[in-house]
Amino acid sequence: MLPIQLFLRYADNRVFTAVGGCTVAWFSLKLILSVWRGFKSYVLSRPLGLATDLKKLGAWAVVTGSTDGIGKAYAKELAAKGINVVLISRSLDKLKNVAHEIESEYRVQTKVVDVDFTGGTEIYPRISKSLQGLEIGTLVNNVGMGYSFPKFFLEIPKAEEFFPNILNVNILSCMMMTKIVLPNMLERGKGAIINIASASGMQPAPLINIYAATKVFMDFFSRGLQVEYGSKGIIIQSVLPFFVTTKLSKFRKTSLFVPNPTQYVRSALATVGLEQRTNGCMSHSIKGWAVERAPEWLKNKAQLQVANNVRKYYLKKYANKKKE
Ligand SMILES: NC(=O)c1ccc[n+]([C@@H]2O[C@H](COP(=O)([O-])OP(=O)(O)OC[C@H]3O[C@@H](n4cnc5c(N)ncnc54)[C@H](OP(=O)(O)O)[C@@H]3O)[C@@H](O)[C@H]2O)c1
Repeated sequence: MLPIQLFLRYADNRVFTAVGGCTVAWFSLKLILSVWRGFKSYVLSRPLGLATDLKKLGAWAVVTGSTDGIGKAYAKELAAKGINVVLISRSLDKLKNVAHEIESEYRVQTKVVDVDFTGGTEIYPRISKSLQGLEIGTLVNNVGMGYSFPKFFLEIPKAEEFFPNILNVNILSCMMMTKIVLPNMLERGKGAIINIASASGMQPAPLINIYAATKVFMDFFSRGLQVEYGSKGIIIQSVLPFFVTTKLSKFRKTSLFVPNPTQYVRSALATVGLEQRTNGCMSHSIKGWAVERAPEWLKNKAQLQVANNVRKYYLKKYANKKKE
């Protein structure tokens, strides 16, 4: 007789009631705990100052991809906390403008480094040299590139250029920047590394597949690094945003589920030290919670359909432009 048959034969209703009760209690407890965590991070944290005080981790922060969007918002919000900021992006003019904007709005120092992260390991000695002697408490690995619009894998134009570029910008930069700042953080026994991954890395993302795969790397890298260095005073946070109104997302209008970069970053910064892995704001976390629980086939079908509609829209738009 199989163990399950034996169990069914001798178990009476009380056993089933107890097992059912424990299961319901377990899931209820999990739900209550996640609601409490969300409430603490997104409602209580800012008024009560529950997040890590990043200024105490070091006088300087480094933000990659800081001339626009989410990176610029991180740079400004960190400056608002009284932290000096090193801005790293590719265009010197834009960097100087953002540095000027930050210095005139907040009483902090800035430093700019113009670098194109599509480059390989050869670009990092110059970055490393520019950061020498600075007490860096916070690193925000934000720089990222995506697709101009959704495409099937074999439709990607100039793949020989695009593949190494997206790997260098989205993955190599994160590893190399971490390698540059982490030793000093470890010596001081404190520091925070905030990695901007993406919610597109939470499930297969057809038609933006390579972008999403690079974000899976970033998320996994962050989680592993937290296990390696968390006990040594280093906070590694993986941030997984859904849409935010930026140049990259092409969303212009804010809505309940699409915040602007400032709204998003204020909320995300309030989770540092509370959440190791976060969707960054309440509406994105609710979406993330649902995405993690939805059946895979449903997510894949819906994602493919939405991405393909967007693809068709852009193909038509570019075809019309060519005709003009
Ligand atoms: N926006 C969203 O909805 C969303 C959602 C999920 C995840 N994310 C992630 O959030 C991060 C920031 O995205 P975003 O939407 O804020 O992008 P964004 O508005 O396009 O800004 C990107 C920033 O990175 C810089 N940059 C881009 N390519 C670079 C390169 N090769 N070398 C140096 N700097 C470069 C840009 O400089 P220039 O100003 O010179 O172009 C700009 O400062 C990315 O990692 C992205 O994957 C965004």
